[in-house]
Amino acid sequence: MKKTILILAALAITLSAFAALAADNTIVGAGKCKMCHKKPKAGEQFKIWSESAHANAFATLKSEASVAIAKERGLGNPWEEAACLKCHDTQAFLGAELDPKTKYTIEEGVGCEACHGAGSAYKKKSVMKDHDKAVAAGLIIEGETNCIKCHNEESPTFAGFVFEERWAEVAHPIPEAAE
Ligand code: HEC
Ligand code: HEC
Ligand code: HEC
Ligand code: HEC
Repeated sequence: MKKTILILAALAITLSAFAALAADNTIVGAGKCKMCHKKPKAGEQFKIWSESAHANAFATLKSEASVAIAKERGLGNPWEEAACLKCHDTQAFLGAELDPKTKYTIEEGVGCEACHGAGSAYKKKSVMKDHDKAVAAGLIIEGETNCIKCHNEESPTFAGFVFEERWAEVAHPIPEAAE
């Protein structure tokens, strides 16, 4: 019995150490992912993302429409307001630190890591190629449940969210032939 308790305690410590590790992951920036995810035959995820609304999410906060929305709510410059950045900027959304070597800038908007998790621990090729290792290192592959953390009624311009339709607009699959 005592032994079981000890084992359980050790397991709990190990698990919390892993959780702490994942929580300590830092943001490397979409430019880092681009290195390996830009080739057309591998699905050019970087190009697809950079042409999507997500890559423009921070710039949007500088638009007249955004300034008007912020004013209406008694807020200052929307591009400086946590109440807007929390869904329009990867770092504010994740609440993670930046990697010391990152070239990430806030202009990236909703970057790869907003959906896939901060990349410092999974970005290595040997880890990336192994699905289980990558997930253990903090890679997130989640659909609708992740989207609705931002696509919800707290968004001042929210007009509903149908996952299948919206996903089709931003999907970036690895082509069959490349696998
Ligand atoms: C050093 C190269 C490299 C870098 C840098 C890199 N990746 Fe990858 N990534 C890969 C390879 C290789 C695969 C496996 C591709 C395959 O299965 O065809 C992969 C797979 C993936 C997958 C699918 C994983 C799965 O198991 O389904 C996701 C999601 C992904 N990468 C996201 C990212 C993100 C986000 C970044 C930046 C934070 C990133 N990658 C940086 C090489 C890289
Ligand atoms: C971190 C917050 C965040 C997450 C997570 C997120 N989005 Fe978005 N999304 C945004 C923001 C902000 C915009 C508006 C960008 C703009 O137009 O400047 C947007 C815009 C879009 C658009 C453009 C059309 C529209 O509705 O205005 C589509 C499509 C979309 N998102 C799909 C998705 C899907 C699918 C997921 C999940 C796989 C997802 N998003 C996850 C924040 C997010
Ligand atoms: C809960 C997450 C969330 C918050 C908080 C949020 N946004 Fe957004 N924003 C989104 C998403 C998701 C979209 C795209 C779909 C939609 O309109 O709901 C978007 C779209 C927009 C658009 C329309 C972009 C376009 O051209 O289609 C504007 C403008 C905007 N947001 C401004 C703001 C401002 C200003 C604030 C702060 C007062 C703010 N948002 C706070 C998630 C959010
Ligand atoms: C709006 C959220 C979102 C953003 C931003 C995003 N992804 Fe993804 N990505 C997803 C989701 C969700 C999936 C899983 C789709 C599925 O279930 O097959 C995915 C799948 C992938 C895959 C695996 C595709 C496959 O066919 O197995 C790769 C590789 C990938 N993403 C890389 C990237 C890279 C690199 C970036 C940035 C340049 C990026 N993603 C940006 C949500 C996102």
